Amino acid sequence: MTGLRLAEKVAVITGGASGIGLATARRFLDEGAKVLIGDYNEASIDTALQALAAGDDVAALRVDVAQESDVARLMQTAVDRWGRLDIAFNNAGITGALGPIMEIEADHWDASFAVMARGVFLGTKHAARIMAPQGGGAIVNTASIAGLAGGVIPTVYSATKAAVVSLTRNAANELAQYRIRVNAVCPGIIFTPLMHSGREDEALATARQVQPWPDAGTPEHVASAVLYLASDEAAFVTGEAHVVDGGYLANGLLRVHPLPGGKANPDYAGMHYGLTGQPREIRRLPRSTEAAQ
Ligand SMILES: NC(=O)c1ccc[n+]([C@@H]2O[C@H](COP(=O)([O-])OP(=O)(O)OC[C@H]3O[C@@H](n4cnc5c(N)ncnc54)[C@H](O)[C@@H]3O)[C@@H](O)[C@H]2O)c1
Repeated sequence: MTGLRLAEKVAVITGGASGIGLATARRFLDEGAKVLIGDYNEASIDTALQALAAGDDVAALRVDVAQESDVARLMQTAVDRWGRLDIAFNNAGITGALGPIMEIEADHWDASFAVMARGVFLGTKHAARIMAPQGGGAIVNTASIAGLAGGVIPTVYSATKAAVVSLTRNAANELAQYRIRVNAVCPGIIFTPLMHSGREDEALATARQVQPWPDAGTPEHVASAVLYLASDEAAFVTGEAHVVDGGYLANGLLRVHPLPGGKANPDYAGMHYGLTGQPREIRRLPRSTEAAQ
């Protein structure tokens, strides 16, 4: 197994059945890791396991990262199956609450934070509980450039990602004594099903309005950064919020995010549960004449 960057490492990936998580699972497997995927959507899990075709090196559990017992069981399952836990990639996410602040339901705020902030906290907590007595490990959390600056909306989504960046920095401080590194990856516009909703051409045209780099960001671009942060190549890197955005942030976020869910003055409000399979709850606002997305 020499030459492989994750030889003999055991990794858990939440939201690993789609998009960035799935690309990272593939990359980790290629680099010699054993991978346990945790995802909400059972149909996506089945499709992902077939696509990965990695035999006994990959497994999956249906979990809700907002539920503490699910997350604890996920981390423990990796140990039960492969004897240790070296890497936790806390990546599950949804679009979450949509709409102008005056229209956002408090329950939708809570549901968004439950997946993207509480879920990352629980993943960090239960991974660290295993990694500390084991002698160390690497935790990578998926934030977003939306968590690093204003102007990338939906508003609630951005707030959850800012929480992830803050949690990552504090956890890195606290867990260094156990040789557990904690970093965040902050993708820009990445072409996944969650982002383009099937409208790839439209999404690329609008992405080019704010992103200097000419090519579309892909899940594989993010997976490469996660591989680095999770591997021993990043042995002295902790507390970092690593941007992978084709220069979007360097561009100064001069314009509001033009992609679905990112209207400056949305004429709809509600909740989008991403690719979990749960039906979205979007309502048109009274002043609107356009159809809700
Ligand atoms: N695509 C982008 O442009 C982009 C940009 C910045 C950040 N991100 C973040 O990257 C991460 C992955 O997004 P993606 O674009 O690959 O999306 P995706 O929808 O393709 O994948 C997300 C996966 O998370 C799973 N999931 C959602 N809620 C869950 C829960 N409660 N428990 C377990 N699994 C759950 C979904 O079922 C899905 O399989 C998210 O945290 C997202 O916010 C994405």
